[in-house]
Amino acid sequence: MVMGFVLPLRSGNFGIGFKGRIADFLKTIDFMFKFLKKKNKGKHANSNRYFELKIKEVRKETGDTNTLVFEKPDRPFHYQPGQFLTLILPIDNKEVRRSYSLCTSPYSDENPAITVKRVESGIVSNYLNDHMKAGDTFEVMEAAGHFVAKPSADQKKKYLLFAAGSGITPIMSIIKSIFAVETESDITLVYQNRNESSIIFQKELADIKSKYVDRFIQVDLLSQPTTEWKGQKGRINASKIHEALEVAGIKNMELAEYFLCGPTGFMQIVHDVLIELKAPEHNIHKESFYSGEANATAKITDETAFDVEMILDGESHTVHVPAKKSILDAALDQGLDMPFSCQSGFCTACRGKLLEGKVDMNEDEGLSEEEKEEGYILNCVSHPAGPGVKIEVG
Ligand SMILES: Cc1cc2nc3c(=O)[nH]c(=O)nc-3n(C[C@H](O)[C@H](O)[C@H](O)COP(=O)(O)OP(=O)(O)OC[C@H]3O[C@@H](n4cnc5c(N)ncnc54)[C@H](O)[C@@H]3O)c2cc1C
Ligand code: FES
Repeated sequence: MVMGFVLPLRSGNFGIGFKGRIADFLKTIDFMFKFLKKKNKGKHANSNRYFELKIKEVRKETGDTNTLVFEKPDRPFHYQPGQFLTLILPIDNKEVRRSYSLCTSPYSDENPAITVKRVESGIVSNYLNDHMKAGDTFEVMEAAGHFVAKPSADQKKKYLLFAAGSGITPIMSIIKSIFAVETESDITLVYQNRNESSIIFQKELADIKSKYVDRFIQVDLLSQPTTEWKGQKGRINASKIHEALEVAGIKNMELAEYFLCGPTGFMQIVHDVLIELKAPEHNIHKESFYSGEANATAKITDETAFDVEMILDGESHTVHVPAKKSILDAALDQGLDMPFSCQSGFCTACRGKLLEGKVDMNEDEGLSEEEKEEGYILNCVSHPAGPGVKIEVG
């Protein structure tokens, strides 16, 4: 459809000078530009927190996993190794949001990418694997999450990474970033999968191995391998974690850093053994993709309604939060353009800073101890505990 625009002409007003007419004309052009930008670039086009990403290439990783490589965004796009994007997709006339970790490194990859593994009967993972092709665009929220490595050229460390299945995605970003920045650090990766064909990034990991022969060790652990498999078999357990520490040459648990990403049970075993062996809690980083438990929002039972002052992108709004509702749901009902993704309290996309008052939070797994101490809360699983609550988002 071709849109027509009527320029605001001033009839009979010859007193207005040429400069005035130019200013009017420029204002109109600006309006048209903003209108088109909004129309063509998704409903959050005017917020800095959202990006429109175009797919450059779809790469098959395994039978049920694809990597979506994006064109370079048209404005600066920052992320840290290990962070995720929240994809916003219109599926069956509804807006759905899901988080996907970036598998690329901000230090060494030109184009950002995500890797999506199918989940049985999953809406978004199957949609992305079945329908996405080069040239398609969709909206994402800026990168978020605190499961991040902070590589620094003057660091010489031992890293022990544990991944299971699609949990390799943020781990891949972390591996590439550490090697891109730290010239003397070593990495050992323990990667749990079902069988040989479910190992994601096989070739990329082999390339890293051949480039960093003395600094990268990969231990593949397969629960149901074929008869030809010569590597480790079974599931993660205490003795396999002890072995990994030995292979990695970690003698002082306090000096190494640990990154864990996989199903809750997998991470719990690794975490408990590391803690038993005196690894400091703040050196163990964990990322959950899925809790498997009932939605934490459903657990909000607070019976009293309160008004909350919400500072969103610098603007103040009064949000009426009814009984048994989360602050996020109440703000969305009121039409506020709040950031969110999982709505279950573990992705942190809805994070806000509690400036005044108190809230009841049903689930805080997504927040680090430091974030909690600094007063951060998750709006999707919080309800005001009294009057005078003031929260800042964005
Ligand atoms: C911070 C974060 C980062 C993530 N990064 C990645 C990534 O890099 N790659 C990736 O493939 N996924 C990643 N995920 C998971 C992703 O966001 C979706 O949860 C997943 O793709 C399933 O969405 P769906 O719409 O297909 O399934 P849904 O339609 O939401 O769910 C379908 C069914 O599967 C169950 N289910 C949902 N998610 C999972 C799961 N992960 N495992 C097992 N069962 C599940 C549900 O309970 C439901 O029964 C990440 C999640 C988080 C929170
Ligand atoms: S939306 Fe994921 S933690 Fe709130």
